[in-house]
Amino acid sequence: MSVIVRNTQVEDIDGIRELQRRIYPTIPPWSREYIERQLNVFPAGQFVAMLDGKIVGSASSLIVMWDDYGLDHDWREVTGGGTFSTHNPAGKTLYGAEVFVDSAVRRRGIGRSLYAARRRLCRNMNLRRIIAAGRLPGFHHHANNMSATTYAMKVIWGDIDDTVLRFQLREGFQFCGVVDNYIPEDVESCGYAALIVWLNPLYRGTATRSPPRT
Ligand SMILES: CC(C)(COP(=O)(O)OP(=O)(O)OC[C@H]1O[C@@H](n2cnc3c(N)ncnc32)[C@H](O)[C@@H]1OP(=O)(O)O)[C@@H](O)C(=O)NCCC(=O)NCCS
Repeated sequence: MSVIVRNTQVEDIDGIRELQRRIYPTIPPWSREYIERQLNVFPAGQFVAMLDGKIVGSASSLIVMWDDYGLDHDWREVTGGGTFSTHNPAGKTLYGAEVFVDSAVRRRGIGRSLYAARRRLCRNMNLRRIIAAGRLPGFHHHANNMSATTYAMKVIWGDIDDTVLRFQLREGFQFCGVVDNYIPEDVESCGYAALIVWLNPLYRGTATRSPPRT
């Protein structure tokens, strides 16, 4: 099996939407127009994974001024409702807006290849970090017994398996806390998400007296 990760092209849009529809039955897929806007705003931040000529995964990112957001943000706010109108090339934070892999080919390292492409981009652009808010798709099984924070902690402690947070921790991300009402339509996660960060070890800061807004 040979997976190729490359930047997304306009011709990939139908394949991305078809995959999104299958993976998130309760969340409407991005419109063609929104994906076109994402590609116009920040083409270098959009990736697809190809297997045997077919799109089997996708990762979408933008650059933000993280100081404007923090723990108290939601997906619509940080991504401009999916248009990436909030993309700001002056920022130092690559924000992971979405990542998914076809369920038929999961656990074969395709997610890892997409995350590697993101880390490469972060290093090449000399960005300080990657931040994302990851879904907690197993939380609805436990929501009657514990808070989303306890659930996330139990995933970190190894007592509960969660395909997304476990994957992100394996990819070197740190857990920063739980965001509520992140994507209200995400019924599996009950709207919650885990805020995570990866710091670019090669980041060369800018030499200024007071720290710049990033
Ligand atoms: C999260 C997601 C993108 C991961 O994609 P993936 O392609 O399965 O990721 P990988 O294969 O790189 O890693 C997943 C696991 O498979 C394991 N794995 C990787 N290659 C493997 C192989 N050849 N054989 C067996 N296991 C393997 C990894 O070690 C990892 O294990 P872990 O979960 O215990 O850490 C995928 O589960 C997904 O699309 N989920 C639904 C959409 C979603 O919720 N996205 C997150 C939005 S925030």
